[in-house]
Amino acid sequence: MAILVTGGAGYIGSVTVENLLSRGENVVVLDNLSRGHREALGANVIFYQGNVGDRELLERITTENEIESCIHFAALAYVGESIEKPREYFEINLEQGITLLGSLLKAGVRRVVFSSSCATYGDPEHLPIIETARQWPINPYGWSKLLLERALASYDEAYGLKFIALRYFNAAGATEALGEHHEPETHLIPNALRAASGQTSKLEVFGGSYPTPDGTAIRDYIHVSDLADAHVRSLNHLRRHNQSEFLYLASGRGYSVLEVIECVREVTGRPVYAHIRPPRRGDPCRLVADSSKAQKLLSWQPCHSDLPTIVRTAWDWHLRHPNGYVAVP
Ligand SMILES: NC(=O)c1ccc[n+]([C@@H]2O[C@H](COP(=O)([O-])OP(=O)(O)OC[C@H]3O[C@@H](n4cnc5c(N)ncnc54)[C@H](O)[C@@H]3O)[C@@H](O)[C@H]2O)c1
Repeated sequence: MAILVTGGAGYIGSVTVENLLSRGENVVVLDNLSRGHREALGANVIFYQGNVGDRELLERITTENEIESCIHFAALAYVGESIEKPREYFEINLEQGITLLGSLLKAGVRRVVFSSSCATYGDPEHLPIIETARQWPINPYGWSKLLLERALASYDEAYGLKFIALRYFNAAGATEALGEHHEPETHLIPNALRAASGQTSKLEVFGGSYPTPDGTAIRDYIHVSDLADAHVRSLNHLRRHNQSEFLYLASGRGYSVLEVIECVREVTGRPVYAHIRPPRRGDPCRLVADSSKAQKLLSWQPCHSDLPTIVRTAWDWHLRHPNGYVAVP
């Protein structure tokens, strides 16, 4: 029996595949490589290149492999891009996601771990965010994730599809072999590391007059290994308890953009020049979540998610892979 990992060649997906393989699980990856890297997967991983919305391909995958569950990462995941290109976000994240769920049901697969997002909350009324807080996204990315969450809940009621939707934000850090490489890169930590290594001359900071102590936005960062671990634990929880859940994955501690940059300066010992730009549309001021429900239910701890560890592991990976997954000529 195998686990289908969609988006398994991407940042969080590849670290989750690494974790699953280390536990002796059988894995099948489906990724269209629009944002992922074949190099992030071992050569012997069963890999299908294509879209999660491709019914025929999904039928082939479920016929050729005995799929027992699915961890669904494949999506577009940039807030700003979703405001400019909402069609792509609803088509890929929602429409293709619905096609995937339909194909899984058809093949008798009734366990799904879904990579949702804290963007489903919009600008939260209270912090830290908890699972029962009102969800009202402020960008198409958040809506595309929330609507797929709704579909999952309806499919559970009607068809017995059991799922765990994991809501998180600001994945960061690296393992020994795998790290973050997006083109273009919009995430703060890899961009700050590029600035520290001299690959870019300065770092753009979006928004310097938010109502926060230093004026920059506050986010809750979580180490990619902790995220991968929580996805695997969620799958095991579904196997044991067969009960759907919505869970937050977070460190519970917020850092401002300037605090993160300061940490990058300290860890790398190099200067990082920050250039304050206007805030981006659709970016909330503060996002910090409470993950106590996930911690209790999954016996999970975000053990690597203190900021210096996140930055140090990302920096070590950056030094070993200065061009990401592109080999140095
Ligand atoms: N990175 C974060 O901070 C963060 C936070 C919250 C939620 N998430 C969610 O986690 C998931 C993974 O994020 P990531 O940072 O690893 O992103 P990523 O872009 O590195 O990975 C996504 C992968 O999905 C693939 N993909 C995209 N569209 C596809 C399609 N139609 N068919 C098949 N494959 C497709 C891409 O090629 C890529 O390999 C996403 O669903 C994202 O919304 C990420």
